[in-house]
Amino acid sequence: MASEAAFFLGQFLRSPVTTGAIMPSSRYLAAAVATPILERGDPVVVELGPGTGPFTAEIQRRLGGRGRHIAVEINPRLARRLAERHPQVELVVDDAARLPHLLAERGVPAADVIVSGLPWASFTAGVQARLLDAVLRAMRPDGAFTTFSYAHARPLAPAIRFRHRLHAAFEEVVPGRTIWRNLPPAFVYHARRPRAAPVT
Ligand SMILES: C[S@@+](CC[C@H](N)C(=O)[O-])C[C@H]1O[C@@H](n2cnc3c(N)ncnc32)[C@H](O)[C@@H]1O
Repeated sequence: MASEAAFFLGQFLRSPVTTGAIMPSSRYLAAAVATPILERGDPVVVELGPGTGPFTAEIQRRLGGRGRHIAVEINPRLARRLAERHPQVELVVDDAARLPHLLAERGVPAADVIVSGLPWASFTAGVQARLLDAVLRAMRPDGAFTTFSYAHARPLAPAIRFRHRLHAAFEEVVPGRTIWRNLPPAFVYHARRPRAAPVT
């Protein structure tokens, strides 16, 4: 656990904007982002920015061998570690902004659930728009999208901008309760019913 935290911190020091956090999320936050994964069926679950894999482990546990779990990680060092730990996950080392193309290459028309670990508040307006547009284009109309935000960042401009984008992109956006057993405390956005128009 200590070495995992140290490894993750090392990735933050190398690429602070892309990594966006100094330590991996807790299992409590992981449980909250994975709630749309139901106990039945064979869903296609896409995970964006798995890092060292706290959300990955929870998604795998909930799937219990059902469906497909495709994870897209841009950092090859994090991806290598994730692949060792979760060989059963279909790991793609690429930019999540290419998600519709990545799914098409794998014969997947659309995702049922997209779970994001991306650090939205670190991103510029342009990067936020590109990534959210990719999410909208890659999910089923009846699909679910979950993502998290740090509670302390809620009043900051990039977080506000992302919240507005999220409301523009989905008909339903419900913020969850603050998860205090995460460092730093965080909350989850549960989004459904993507609007047809791309985010600009
Ligand atoms: C805040 S960390 C979260 C890691 C993990 N999900 C967790 O909660 O501990 C953000 C992760 O997103 C990855 N990432 C950032 N931008 C990305 C992009 N455009 N495409 C795919 N992964 C990206 C980073 O490399 C990092 O692993």
